[in-house]
Amino acid sequence: MPDAAAVAAAFDLTRLGDAFYQDPYPVYRALRAHAPVKRLPDGSVFITRHADVLGVYKDPKTFSSDKHEEFFPKYGASPLYEHHTTSLVFNDPPLHTRVRRLIGGALTPRHIAAMEGRLVGLVDGLLDAIDGAGEVDLIPAFAGAIPVEIIGNLLDVPHAERGPLRDWSLAILGALEPVLSPEVEARGNAAVREMLVYLEGLVERRRAAPGDPEVDVLTRLIEGEGGERLSARELLHNCIFLLNAGHETTTNLIGNALRCLAEWPAERARLLAEPDLVRSGVEEFLRFESSNQLGNRITTAATEIGGVALASRTRVHIGIGAANRDPEPFPDPDRLDLSRHPNRHVAFGSGIHQCVGMGLARLEGRVAIGRFVARFPDYRLAGAPQRARRARFRGHLSLPARVR
Ligand code: HEM
Repeated sequence: MPDAAAVAAAFDLTRLGDAFYQDPYPVYRALRAHAPVKRLPDGSVFITRHADVLGVYKDPKTFSSDKHEEFFPKYGASPLYEHHTTSLVFNDPPLHTRVRRLIGGALTPRHIAAMEGRLVGLVDGLLDAIDGAGEVDLIPAFAGAIPVEIIGNLLDVPHAERGPLRDWSLAILGALEPVLSPEVEARGNAAVREMLVYLEGLVERRRAAPGDPEVDVLTRLIEGEGGERLSARELLHNCIFLLNAGHETTTNLIGNALRCLAEWPAERARLLAEPDLVRSGVEEFLRFESSNQLGNRITTAATEIGGVALASRTRVHIGIGAANRDPEPFPDPDRLDLSRHPNRHVAFGSGIHQCVGMGLARLEGRVAIGRFVARFPDYRLAGAPQRARRARFRGHLSLPARVR
């Protein structure tokens, strides 16, 4: 690795090499030390310190989530543009507040606790299916198979219709990478179009036969609240977002955790000896290998971060994965410590946009990782794990393992 100051000086989010995709943390370390508010060649800044990241999250007026200005040059007038600029995560209040309230009402701790029994059944079914197999790829066979069902249940998507959800989600979120190839863009646009057609039909059926708004998020979004309803486009795009948001991120949490435990045998042994450690363990996996490594904001006025002056309309890349390895709040940050405490990671963001699904993601992580390790205490990797070449969503395309 060249000198850290030189690494920080040369860093450009639009020109990342293979080494970065494999292991971005040395680069993040160099940036935190030498250029924590790094100016990129296109005028945007990339921030890597935990305190700076929190400061941005806590001031949504100065650091807006609205993406119209940023995404038009990227996507043009296209399905991807319409989708991303209509979803709650890329909007400020009031649209953000209205949608968030509707979704959040079906994801209270009480609702999430009620999902546990069904989730345990699903996970055990998957474990049964891979038990006895020689070599198995843990991404499709396990990590990727859980969130699609859970999020499908949340919107009550009929089981037989869940097949395409995972590929649509990968295609749409893949188009959020800092660099967009024509193929990825075309796949993303096609996925939005196909999802819109599918969801229009689903919404029509649900209007004809509404579900229980207590638990069915789609019915909640259709019915609205206090006389306020979402427009047809807002409804469809926020359903797409919800289906995608809970998907790859949670797959990556589970996949990254199983890879970590294969590579940190002493931590695995602690977890086996003390299964309750899975609760703080999930927080540590989220910190150590954050499934969502990047966030974005745009300044609405002249401001500063960490003493660096920023003009109005400066784009800010939030280094979630970098902040979560900052030695300031996390002593010995490159060590996996399943009982780390305190652990104020920002894997779910913070402030008004903090992940609505974090309770559900934590439950999925806890059940999937805990039950996997208990069933297959001696599992080991079988061949090289293959990482997706992505800077934003950190996970694996494949994770071959032998479970017995
Ligand atoms: C390990 C799994 C997950 C991770 C790491 C994760 C991460 C995040 C992050 C970092 C944000 C904030 C984005 C921002 O501030 O710009 C976010 C927002 C969001 N997430 Fe998650 N997420 C996960 C799972 C889920 C699940 C399971 C759901 C759905 C049930 C979900 C639904 C949402 C929604 C709706 C938002 C937008 C909230 C808003 O804008 O107010 N996420 N997530």
